[in-house]
Amino acid sequence: MTEAAPEAVTAITPAPRLRVQSMKEYHPPLGNRDLLRLDFNENTLACSPRVREVLGRISAGDLTRYPEREPVETIVAAHLGLAAPQVALTNGVDEAIHVLFETFLEAGDELLLPVPTYTMYEVYASATDAHLVPVLAADDLQFPIERLIAAITPRTKIIAIANPNSPSGSVASRAQLLQIAHRAPHAVLLVDEAYFHFHGETVIDLVRALPNLVVARTFSKAYGLAGLRLGLLAGPVELMRWVRRVLSPYSVNSLALACLPPALEDSSYIDWYVSEVLRARHDFEAALDAAKLRRWPSCANFILVDIGPQHAEFVRLMRAAGVLVRDRSSDPGCDGRVRITIGTREQMQQAVLALNEAIAALKLGGEAQ
Ligand SMILES: Cc1ncc(COP(=O)(O)O)c(C=O)c1O
Repeated sequence: MTEAAPEAVTAITPAPRLRVQSMKEYHPPLGNRDLLRLDFNENTLACSPRVREVLGRISAGDLTRYPEREPVETIVAAHLGLAAPQVALTNGVDEAIHVLFETFLEAGDELLLPVPTYTMYEVYASATDAHLVPVLAADDLQFPIERLIAAITPRTKIIAIANPNSPSGSVASRAQLLQIAHRAPHAVLLVDEAYFHFHGETVIDLVRALPNLVVARTFSKAYGLAGLRLGLLAGPVELMRWVRRVLSPYSVNSLALACLPPALEDSSYIDWYVSEVLRARHDFEAALDAAKLRRWPSCANFILVDIGPQHAEFVRLMRAAGVLVRDRSSDPGCDGRVRITIGTREQMQQAVLALNEAIAALKLGGEAQ
């Protein structure tokens, strides 16, 4: 017997929220990356061997359970000198940003964002009904403290600051962050310390004293765990209570949770990796200066370089030489600028060879640029 054909469904495509209709899909250029990865500011080498050991011991049975985040939050909080209710683990800092925006931003609210900065703030802001207020840095790309203070209004609800910032590598000082927190007591001040280890300065201790400060950290950069998706938010208990209502209880998976304590314990691995990158950054700065390319001072594991009108060709030539770098030309105030992640000294020697070939081929540097 033949089955009757299903009744035709009237073709109506359900419409998403208006804000979603005006959003663009964001596709970071993640394809074909089996080269020297100087494009996403990741650790370019490996995570701690202790993390690998723990991963190897995870059994099939372990994977059958739902992940339990609280015991690991307690360990992380102790590591940071905070109480467990002040810390929430997240699926990378990206989830932390998303959840914070969903928790606090309403129609009519303003999100203050010094730009250029990390792309995902704008992506997640565009999914809310809040109004994005970009605060453009001057040509030196230093933190625009005066302009930011001047942009605070009674409607300011979140001020999001990457510190160090990407793609510039510039920083806001502790005094400047305190000034902002005091000038906008009605707003949440998010300080995203994704690149903390390369800078060495933090305001995470201030979450015990300031009622409106929230600090984000990631395990994607110095720790070398970008693939596991691990981040955290630290803030006053009163704010974190709201955040936990929105945060999924299962968004940090059990592999990530198992790897976090050994990653934290192995501080000598982080110390080694960070000092290696800082030495490599010093050498790479010298190579850029010798080539007479304009660069911006960086407190992180990357450097923004002015390549000029041939930026796309430069990125293509670097890829052809086996080195991935990131064109930031479409960022506000960044036309012609390319961001180069710093890896180990050995890796950066390869990068310098590729750089010098590209410079020669395109006649870059100094007056020629
Ligand atoms: C400032 C900043 N915050 C957060 C992230 C992303 O962190 P995660 O991998 O934990 O989502 C990045 C990644 O480039 C970044 O530059």
